[in-house]
Amino acid sequence: MKALVITSLSGPDALAIRDAPEPILKPSQVTVRVAAGGLNFADFMTTKGGYPGTPPPPLIAGREFAGTEVNTNHRVMGYVQWGAFAENVAAYPNMLWAVPEQWTDEQAAAFPVNYFTAYLGYWQAGMTSQPLGGQSPSPALSGAEGAVQRSGATHRVLIHAVAGGVGTAAVQIGKLLGVEMYGTSSSDEKLARVRELGLQHGINYKQNDYEEVVKNLTRGEGVDAVFEMLGGEHTAKSLRCLRDFGRVIQYGTATGKQPQLDVRALYAKSASIQGLWLTYLSQKREIMEPAWNRLSEWIAHRKLTPVVGHVFPLERAKEAYKLLQDGKNYGKVVLKIT
Ligand SMILES: NC(=O)c1ccc[n+]([C@@H]2O[C@H](COP(=O)([O-])OP(=O)(O)OC[C@H]3O[C@@H](n4cnc5c(N)ncnc54)[C@H](OP(=O)(O)O)[C@@H]3O)[C@@H](O)[C@H]2O)c1
Repeated sequence: MKALVITSLSGPDALAIRDAPEPILKPSQVTVRVAAGGLNFADFMTTKGGYPGTPPPPLIAGREFAGTEVNTNHRVMGYVQWGAFAENVAAYPNMLWAVPEQWTDEQAAAFPVNYFTAYLGYWQAGMTSQPLGGQSPSPALSGAEGAVQRSGATHRVLIHAVAGGVGTAAVQIGKLLGVEMYGTSSSDEKLARVRELGLQHGINYKQNDYEEVVKNLTRGEGVDAVFEMLGGEHTAKSLRCLRDFGRVIQYGTATGKQPQLDVRALYAKSASIQGLWLTYLSQKREIMEPAWNRLSEWIAHRKLTPVVGHVFPLERAKEAYKLLQDGKNYGKVVLKIT
């Protein structure tokens, strides 16, 4: 079968289309004939050896896809750790979801990673008012959340890379949850497009210091949560954007730098930092099922549709990866596979 192969860990230029053997199914796995693949920042990191747990090359790239389950002929969208950018992929049924009938394959390939990650970010921030797995993510939540709700205030979130895949999903979900959103991007043009999705406060970080803007717009109060996927100095800076009891949801390090933080900075506001990793949470049925039920309710009412910014044929995958590398993408980048 045709597949996009990572031939060495030297970045997108080492990607090549090769003939590869059909996937061998592990117990309980099924085969999906792939129509489209969703490109994630993690795929770009993987090409440079920057994603933990990846086997050595040669390796079939891709973790997210939409297509047809071979045995049942049902349209599905799904998530694996690698091997998705090929004509066929082996997947576990608990990591497959039915494609809403009104969606194209490209839209479906743009869904699982971004929308589950964004929804679980709000859940970890205590903004979904939905216990998953029977409980809130942390006992501290009820105190902080209660304090905010008692004052009648709206939750506020700062979303980094707001015009990207997870970012645009977070804006759509935040709008449905009634959250006041602040979002950063390098481009006014991208911010204008995200405003159309419901972002209230766009911040071009090339022109303005986001910490200053958040401070001014919230009259010095800060936000309840920051969706932080940059790392380096941004972890501490994001923490400084929080109000009392706020939390930084740390889910990436796009700068390639370790988050820098003196944890004593948490004391002042009783703030906290929580890690979020979909790969780990996605193994927990008690968390994923209620999250999917909530997301599918919105989808059924046509309130949630994936934001596909760019579609490339598999043959032009290198260009697609470089869009992410250069921060030039808007929304999700999708590869057409068959
Ligand atoms: N923990 C998890 O489970 C999980 C799941 C999904 C994604 N993630 C993480 O979430 C982040 C976003 O992922 P995504 O797939 O949705 O990508 P994306 O946001 O569509 O693309 C990355 C965006 O990040 C911004 N950016 C800021 N600094 C950057 C830098 N130094 N290099 C490159 N881009 C930079 C760029 O937008 P601007 O130029 O507009 O700022 C760029 O468009 C990534 O860090 C990813 O690893 C984590």
